[in-house]
Amino acid sequence: MDEYEKLNQKRIGFAITGSFCTLEETMKVLENITQSGADIMPILSFNVASLDTKFGTAEHWRTEISRITNAPIIDTIPKAEPIGPKALLDAIIVLPCSGNTLGKLANGITDTPVCMAVKAHLRNNRPVLLGVSTNDGLGVSAANIGRLMNNKNIFFIPFGQDSPHKKHNSLVCDFDQALPALAMALDGKQLQPLFREYK
Ligand SMILES: Cc1cc2nc3c(=O)[nH]c(=O)nc-3n(C[C@H](O)[C@H](O)[C@H](O)COP(=O)(O)O)c2cc1C
Repeated sequence: MDEYEKLNQKRIGFAITGSFCTLEETMKVLENITQSGADIMPILSFNVASLDTKFGTAEHWRTEISRITNAPIIDTIPKAEPIGPKALLDAIIVLPCSGNTLGKLANGITDTPVCMAVKAHLRNNRPVLLGVSTNDGLGVSAANIGRLMNNKNIFFIPFGQDSPHKKHNSLVCDFDQALPALAMALDGKQLQPLFREYK
């Protein structure tokens, strides 16, 4: 069974945080997951839901996400809360996962819709897949990544350095491996190798 068949009819939370430079690439993954027949629940951090940046306005990204998924956007903590008690999702993918959100998830801070969704979902003993994208991945975020790696039900899209000579601490996941990693996470497994080749 390939990853498209595996994702068909699965209920997937697609959580998006503020690595704004990767949102364009993220939309392609969102398109692919939607085309696999998965039932998508889009979830936005407060910052993605509201900030206009040089990579696009909040309204632009909201319109794109609605066009692709045709689903209501979860953009408040109360809207994310039922994911736990109603067991609404089979898996959550956080893509991109910012250094900020990594830090919160690693330390039990639940003050955004994305963190609330993950917390609510983890209580049901179900998988969460993180796609890191942060300039401090080998800096202060390294401890948070390490801590999350040791957590039950947390998996990572394979990641590596994206610009080792110019941005020594920067890490970014391989967006092309998001779907295979999600299919594996649904089986409770980490896609290997975890460190992607430098491209
Ligand atoms: C234009 C722009 C690009 C950014 N890119 C990144 C990024 O790639 N990775 C990251 O961790 N933070 C990035 N940030 C910072 C985050 O958006 C910021 O830490 C924010 O608090 C994240 O909140 P969230 O995790 O709740 O979405 C960027 C900020 C701006 C304005």
